[in-house]
Amino acid sequence: KCDAKVAVMGASGGIGQPLSLLLKQSPLVTELSLFDIVNTPGVAADLSHINTPAKVKAFNGPEQLKDSLRGAQVVIIPAGVPRKPGMTRDDLFNTNASIVRDLVVAMAEVAPKALVAIISNPVNSTVPIASEVLQKASVYDPNRVFGVTTLDIVRANTFIAEAKNLDPQKTSVPVIGGHSGITIIPLISQCTPSVSFPDDQLKALTERIQEAGTEVVKAKAGTGSATLSMAYAGARFGLSLIRALNGETGIIECSYVKSNVTDAKYFSTPILLGKNGIEKNLGLGKLSSFEQKLLDAAIPELKKNIQKGEDFVNKK
Ligand code: APR
Repeated sequence: KCDAKVAVMGASGGIGQPLSLLLKQSPLVTELSLFDIVNTPGVAADLSHINTPAKVKAFNGPEQLKDSLRGAQVVIIPAGVPRKPGMTRDDLFNTNASIVRDLVVAMAEVAPKALVAIISNPVNSTVPIASEVLQKASVYDPNRVFGVTTLDIVRANTFIAEAKNLDPQKTSVPVIGGHSGITIIPLISQCTPSVSFPDDQLKALTERIQEAGTEVVKAKAGTGSATLSMAYAGARFGLSLIRALNGETGIIECSYVKSNVTDAKYFSTPILLGKNGIEKNLGLGKLSSFEQKLLDAAIPELKKNIQKGEDFVNKK
């Protein structure tokens, strides 16, 4: 069995802690490196008592940043500030953009070959930011940089399974595009098992999937955004990367990546994963006319988000 060293950047947070727990729980992880600007010694001590193989190490504060990344094969980034009511994901832009930039600058230096999975919002822009940073450092490999959109897929599976009384673990809906509002495009026409809905219900389900993050923000009434479901989704995605690194074949996850599939430079589609990250982009598949309209509406918004990320790195 292969080594799998995973670094979680922002490990003390609302997402970072349950994400680290789920990774620690997996026997696939051999080393778990926890980085944050606060509280990692406590989180690491706590997790280290769990009787699974992963060795847990704490790295606290900027002076330990590079050490936290050394030797990491997978780097997962949930660091940032969460969304509050009335805030869109884009309102988080400036703070989270700087955090992601600085983390990826360090990664470019000490773990340039790692697969990186970005959770910090707005993902539509933070993935272009990471990519630009890696490019500037001359270590960019577009097959190794991923935006985690897995929560959109998880939510789509749950909501469709509820509506049709299916087993949610055996319901699989691809979700393409981006990770915010109208850029989220559930392909319900490609659901396994196949399902169909009257137009009004299809529209309502689509909108619920697009706005599901806001549902959680409202319910948490000022205390934050999705953390537990996001941690579940982040762990599922991170463990899929690790399984692919370990040589398992046929693993497919939707992810927001550098893409030629549409004229948005970054776009989420189903991706076949391999030892070097993206093995093959599986593309859009066949869209219904409803989904094609969603795609047409998403592209200009996505392009704006991408440009904003690129400008953040290049105009400073
Ligand atoms: N380096 C590392 N960690 C950092 C940094 C930094 N420069 N700045 C902040 N953090 C840490 C915080 O100390 C905190 O532990 O990131 C963690 C964020 O946790 P929370 O504030 O609880 O936020 P959370 O709900 O986990 O969301 C984090 O993920 O989904 C996105 O929109 C969400 O962008 C937000 C991010």
